[in-house]
Amino acid sequence: MFESLRAVPADPILNLSVLYRQDTNPNKVDLGVGVYKDETGHTAIMEAVARAEERLLAEEDTKAYVGMAGSKRFCELLAQVTLGADHAVLADQRIAVAQTPGGSGALRVLGEFINVASPNATVWLGNPTWANHHAVMQSAGFTVKEYPYYNRGTRAVDFDAMLNALQNQTQAGDVVLLHGCCHNPSGADLSLDQWQAITDLVLAKGLIPYVDIAYQGLGEGMDEDAAGLRLMANAVPEMVIASSCSKNFGLYRERTGTAMIIAANAQQASLAQGQMNSVIRANYSMPPSHGALVVETILADPKLKQMWRDELKTMRKRIKDLRSQLVDAIKAEGVTQDFSFIERQKGMFSFLGVSAEQVDTLVNEHSVYLVGSSRINLAGLNQRNIAYVAKSIAAVL
Ligand code: LMR
Repeated sequence: MFESLRAVPADPILNLSVLYRQDTNPNKVDLGVGVYKDETGHTAIMEAVARAEERLLAEEDTKAYVGMAGSKRFCELLAQVTLGADHAVLADQRIAVAQTPGGSGALRVLGEFINVASPNATVWLGNPTWANHHAVMQSAGFTVKEYPYYNRGTRAVDFDAMLNALQNQTQAGDVVLLHGCCHNPSGADLSLDQWQAITDLVLAKGLIPYVDIAYQGLGEGMDEDAAGLRLMANAVPEMVIASSCSKNFGLYRERTGTAMIIAANAQQASLAQGQMNSVIRANYSMPPSHGALVVETILADPKLKQMWRDELKTMRKRIKDLRSQLVDAIKAEGVTQDFSFIERQKGMFSFLGVSAEQVDTLVNEHSVYLVGSSRINLAGLNQRNIAYVAKSIAAVL
């Protein structure tokens, strides 16, 4: 039966790491996969994570199964981190939470959950969005449609077009996927006024917001980055949220995320928890434990929590500085084209806004690795490579 299989195209993001590793050019620069790197180009284990792991090594006394929804304490803490400890949804117990294998696992679990609750729903993804959103939502069984999000001319959110499409093309019960912060791939985020306008529209049309927040803390701060999502959660009866600890705790390979379902009341939240657990049981049975235990250990200890917050602040500041430095370095190459939008955008990513051919030249002739859409990971820049990257960009313009 396997003779009928067709070759699958390489993953547009993850395959860049493979190509980068194979490249022998000593000047090569990896601006591909969304992984934070420090000034030396290394993705180090955060100090707070290392300390928590030491503690776990000394104190953890069982490897027995965790439940389908993982650690209850982790779920409580992550709901507080995402929504804010005093959010009305938590006080009213209108939430179901599960620890998942990364943010991707949360996306898939929530997708399958919605499919149980509303089998004919259409999922609306922004154009552009994280490349894997399409695959995850299609695999969960949805019809996927797109709404316009980013205007490549103004290099900003095309809000009128977005609102117009959601207003005129969606049906009650459709699901709208939004990025909580640090939009991947554009770095262009919604303002609070825009979150409010989408919230009003969601309420008026009976849509289900589905927020993917994979980069909380990498934009303006843990609370600031979740402000739009929190505002929306205050107003709508139903909403789902996929969050990730990959970036803000640097736990990429430990696959640590959270799926959250906000329901109209506590009773429906309890039913939702049961359905979500059953989706998990039929899929991977229960999540891996280690990453969540690390996060739980950090968040439950004031000293470790402060250490983590400080480290995250350093990462955030470094990315912001690199944004300004890249804009200056490109200018210093005599480029007159305006790249100042990079400074206004948030999180790890921005589009350079160059063509697919220019991306090919950057990759193949300059060994500067970026996604085909011209998305760059700013955190891959450092003082040793930034001038080279700016020179390479200038050379392809
Ligand atoms: C990215 O967008 O680069 C990250 O989310 C990594 C991935 O899995 O694609």
